[in-house]
This record gives sequence, structure tokens and C-alpha cells, in this order.
Amino acid sequence: MRVIKVGSYDQMSRTAANIIAAQIIMKPDSVLGLATGSSPIGTYKRLIEMNKSGDLDFSGITTVNLDEYCGLSGSHDQSYRYFMNTNLFDHINIKKENTHVPDGVAADYDEECRRYDKLIEELGGIDLQLLGIGHNGHIGFNEPDEVFEKYTHVMDLKQSTIDANSRFFAKKEDVPMQAITMGIKTIMSAKKILLIASGADKKEILERALYGPITPNVPASVLQLHPDLTVVCSVD
Ligand code: F6R
Repeated sequence: MRVIKVGSYDQMSRTAANIIAAQIIMKPDSVLGLATGSSPIGTYKRLIEMNKSGDLDFSGITTVNLDEYCGLSGSHDQSYRYFMNTNLFDHINIKKENTHVPDGVAADYDEECRRYDKLIEELGGIDLQLLGIGHNGHIGFNEPDEVFEKYTHVMDLKQSTIDANSRFFAKKEDVPMQAITMGIKTIMSAKKILLIASGADKKEILERALYGPITPNVPASVLQLHPDLTVVCSVD
């Protein structure tokens, strides 16, 4: 595990973007696993700048996102597909058909989960997975649990996660209570993992995840077992 401590959100974003850029330069047909949320927004902004200045080419890149809310279609402004389009994909030269997010309005969620795992397998796995961390230690939407769920699955979101997400919705009733998420095995199968965290409110959970016991009660703690984990954080 490599832990890179930096002094600000901006520095975290620049460092993470440089790591992703290096991956893209070294392997222009990389499969990138991507995350949503406030943590990666600055990283995506920086990647857009690099693309616009001609330093980074996304034309051979494929992406698979970690998760999507159940019940929200890609055109809903709180869906993760919409987030990815507006915060990254619409501004870079990636082929939209090579960007993948679980389908939040699939007719059969179990089938959608299997399809997503098969897709990742057929793509040859994920070269670099970008992750944020939730205050309860979740990665993707793998919430604290008694077991590590291995594959893509539908998750009932914890009340704390629903509360944290409610800031983005007009009414509390509109906040989705379930999400489709990649499982722990899928995430851990990525060749490289890049975890980013920023803010004093993430300090305690990050320490528990990186140095505490490995337990499904702190899903991110499993990352300690990954052979190529880089953490870029600004939590002090
Ligand atoms: C988002 C995701 C989540 C977030 C986590 C942290 O795709 O998978 O696990 O990474 O909730 O969110 P922020 O970055 O908003 O603190």
C-alpha cells in the first residue's frame, strides 16, 4: 500500500489525475473503473483539462462505473450516469458506447447484475479502479455487513447513506433506497486501485480502513489485501 498525503482537495485531485493519466498514457486501451460523489469531481476536472490541452487521449479508453441508483434512469439529474456524463464524459474524447454504468431501470435487476459482471469479465477486467470512501467505510455501495458480497448486487442503502444523499434531492421520499453496486471481489480484481479521500470528516474512517481489522463491517478495510493499492488523501 502506498499512502500519498497531500495538503488540499485540489492537490489530491491533481495527484489522482496524474496517476490516472499515467495509466492512460502507458496503456491507451485501459479499462478504468470510475466512481461518483464529491471526491472525484476535481480529479475529473483535471482530466478534462489534460484532454483539452492535447496531453491525454481517451479515444481507446473503456470505463465501468461502480454503481447506480435503482429506479433512476440515465436522464435523471441525480443518476450516476448523468453525473458521469456531465462531470467527465461529455467533455472528453471518449466514445460514449465505451462508457458503462449499471442500468438503474433494468426490468430484472438480478439479470442486470449478472450482465455487468460478464461485461467486466469480457473487457478483460479493470486496469485501474478509482474509489471514494463513505463515512461508514463503504466502497461503491458495499455497505457495512456481516459478509463481503462478491459480485455485482442490489444493496439496501443504510439510513446514514440515504441521509447523506438526501442533500441532492428535493424531497426525502425521492432519495433512492437501493442501488446496484459492483461487489467486493469485482473491485478487488482490479489490477490497480486508487482510493481518494479528502476532509477531516474522512480521517477516522480512512484510518480504520487502512490500519484497522479487515472486516465486512468496514468494507474498505478489505483494500489492505490488495497488492497494488494507492491512497491519495488530504484529511489533516
Ligand atoms: C460513488 C461511490 C461511493 C462514494 C462514497 C464517497 O460511486 O461508489 O462509494 O465514493 O460515498 O462519496 P463522496 O466522495 O461524495 O464523499
